[in-house]
Amino acid sequence: MTSPVFKQLYESTLADSLDEDAVLLDIGAKDGKIASALAESIGCRAIVLDIEFDDEAAGCNCDAVQADGESMPLPDNSVDAIISNMVFEHVPDEERLIAETARVLTDDGIFISICPNRAWPGDGHGYPVGMPWLPEGIGNRIAKPYDRQYGRGEEWYQVAYHPVWSVTVRRELSAYFDSVEFRSAALLEADLDRSDTKQRLLDTFAEPLEMALASDIGERLVEAVFPTPVYVSTRPKSPP
Ligand SMILES: C[S@@+](CC[C@H](N)C(=O)[O-])C[C@H]1O[C@@H](n2cnc3c(N)ncnc32)[C@H](O)[C@@H]1O
Repeated sequence: MTSPVFKQLYESTLADSLDEDAVLLDIGAKDGKIASALAESIGCRAIVLDIEFDDEAAGCNCDAVQADGESMPLPDNSVDAIISNMVFEHVPDEERLIAETARVLTDDGIFISICPNRAWPGDGHGYPVGMPWLPEGIGNRIAKPYDRQYGRGEEWYQVAYHPVWSVTVRRELSAYFDSVEFRSAALLEADLDRSDTKQRLLDTFAEPLEMALASDIGERLVEAVFPTPVYVSTRPKSPP
């Protein structure tokens, strides 16, 4: 389930740029809930795309496309906004997925991506702290009991998970978009739920983070280590 803080960020970033004729695409939508909620609050049409939907996606009030995000069966320039939440680390080649977003977006379209950063030792997949830093061979041995425990199948770590660095993601986005902005600071503007530990943690870090983000070098450093880098990419480049 997408964090309510991320949902607020999507809403506040997209509300002004989308109208009722706009098409929003959620890549790796899983249960489709976030796209459904955004389509309703913004008042636009939503397409959800996933290689394997959750059962709950059947209740989603969106057009569903079961496909690989690295090769989407959607026309060029056909989508006004794309979100992709916690998906880059599950596709074999996130750069191919990024290239596809640039292809299907309209010229003034917007792509908001959020994924975990390998520079952060914590991991949202139930693995021990430090797991994202391990070389694949060691990680593969450690992952097996956890994957069994979470019913993911023994090879899940090897086939469906590869942690990515924020600096790599920025470089890949910059190859396909003229403008790539690190926007994790927007998470601080969300209306936090003080009963949620993760959100309280974000609140605790708000002041030092705001100070660090005030300078260019501070912003680059925060971007390099931020656990969930948010990128807003616009002005897709024309294919070479
Ligand atoms: C961690 S879940 C995130 C789900 C949702 N975006 C959210 O925030 O709750 C990752 C999703 O990416 C999907 N996925 C993995 N590889 C994919 C691919 N190549 N193309 C499209 N979706 C993919 C998975 O099926 C899964 O639903």
